Amino acid sequence: MARFLLINGPNLNLLGKREPEIYGSTTLGEVEASLIEQAARHGHTLDCFQSNAEYELVERIQQASEERLAGIVINPAALGHSSIALRDALLATGVPFIEIHISNIFARETFRHHTYLSDVASGVIVGFGVRGYELALSAAIENASQ
Ligand code: DQA
Repeated sequence: MARFLLINGPNLNLLGKREPEIYGSTTLGEVEASLIEQAARHGHTLDCFQSNAEYELVERIQQASEERLAGIVINPAALGHSSIALRDALLATGVPFIEIHISNIFARETFRHHTYLSDVASGVIVGFGVRGYELALSAAIENASQ
């Protein structure tokens, strides 16, 4: 059994209501429940954390160092485009992570084309809608068993 962590950044608590033409109608609660089930089907556990505050995300990631996690799946939301602190926290834990974006950030405004996480992530999944979370967890589980 391995332990995984799902982290969602600012405004993703509004999934399902927020710009549904871009992010769809599935809520964050539904995404989390489905991923917890997916992890359980493989005999693993998944903790979920969402915050709108950068410092809370940094603190949750720091905590991950002591939890012997097999992997992190993170949608940093807008902080991916701006936060060196989030990048540094993830690097400090040494836990491999997969970055996911629901929308295709490369087909949107240019300020969304760069993220501070992508070059240090194990992999990046963009543009598959909320299904990207499932793909990311699947990859994290596979990576952990290698
Ligand atoms: C997002 C893309 C970001 O650019 C945006 O700020 C978000 C959501 C996505 O999942 O597509 O909040 O991370």
